[in-house]
Amino acid sequence: MGRSSKDKRDIYYRLAKEEGWRARSAFKLLQLDEEFKLFKGVRRAVDLCAAPGSWSQVLSRKLRVKESSEEVKIVAVDLQAMAPLPGVTQIQGDITKISTAQEIIRHFEGQAADLVVCDGAPDVTGLHDVDEYIQAQLLLAALNITSHVLKPGGNFVAKIFRGKDVTLLYSQLKIFFSTVTCAKPRSSRNSSIEAFVVCQNYSPPEGYVPNMSNPLLDHSYDVDFNQLEGPNRVIVPFLACGDLSAFDSDRTYPLQLDSEKEYEYLPPTQPPIRPPYQQACHLRKNNLLAKEDSPSAVLDGALSTMNLGSEQETDPSTP
Ligand SMILES: C[S@@+](CC[C@H](N)C(=O)[O-])C[C@H]1O[C@@H](n2cnc3c(N)ncnc32)[C@H](O)[C@@H]1O
Repeated sequence: MGRSSKDKRDIYYRLAKEEGWRARSAFKLLQLDEEFKLFKGVRRAVDLCAAPGSWSQVLSRKLRVKESSEEVKIVAVDLQAMAPLPGVTQIQGDITKISTAQEIIRHFEGQAADLVVCDGAPDVTGLHDVDEYIQAQLLLAALNITSHVLKPGGNFVAKIFRGKDVTLLYSQLKIFFSTVTCAKPRSSRNSSIEAFVVCQNYSPPEGYVPNMSNPLLDHSYDVDFNQLEGPNRVIVPFLACGDLSAFDSDRTYPLQLDSEKEYEYLPPTQPPIRPPYQQACHLRKNNLLAKEDSPSAVLDGALSTMNLGSEQETDPSTP
């Protein structure tokens, strides 16, 4: 697929480059904010699983104009490093670790956050059940860390896969937040299982002590749970959000969008510093991907002489 055909097939990928966002997912947070006014009055925000940083960019651009910039504190956490952003403190860490929660609190000088967002996603395996399970675990890890850093009344937004165990996740979230909505922004493809839970008004049960253990999804849970009715089953509202006239992320658009303006290919705004797929890109580019007749020694030799730091490959449509 050529470079311009990607621009044609993924309108939000193209718009992200035109508007200077590091990834197309920036539009998801912008459209969620349009619907839920998430940024109103927010001074301390946490972006979990932030790399390459388009959600942090949105937070930085939106929050720092509303409030005086010095008062706004944004902390971004990811396993991977990302290029700096104005007003954003980065923590290269794991959201499943208590030490990461402690570091966030240190940055806020002991104060709690008004908003926590998490667009976390593990590397997908292609095995749907496994992917859904790992995504659910990551969401629960995000909820755990949120319970350490979010102020009562604060909001939490996280990516969720609407798989078969999703009702259990909703029930877990409803324990901590008075309102939970499942939202699907226009920029999130209909063909994708992805949606976002928008959890408003953090109000943990009385006496709840935050901890990082993650047994929530593993307790006795069987398929009958999804057959429960009435108050025993948690049904959360589902909201398709974003202006209906907004671009449809599943459609292909012509390259010449505007009759006045000639199409011009733009490179991605900011490639990730060290994407996990960098090695795979190198192997593919050099025709070194596993072949039956290629001796592993050749591959090993190639890998050991590879200068991974010198090359940046990216596909910003992924997040
Ligand atoms: C879809 S990307 C996030 C895109 C980002 N919101 C943006 O707009 O640029 C998912 C990120 O989750 C991160 N991630 C996955 N598991 C994590 C963990 N346990 N702790 C921290 N980050 C994690 C990955 O490193 C990856 O950068």
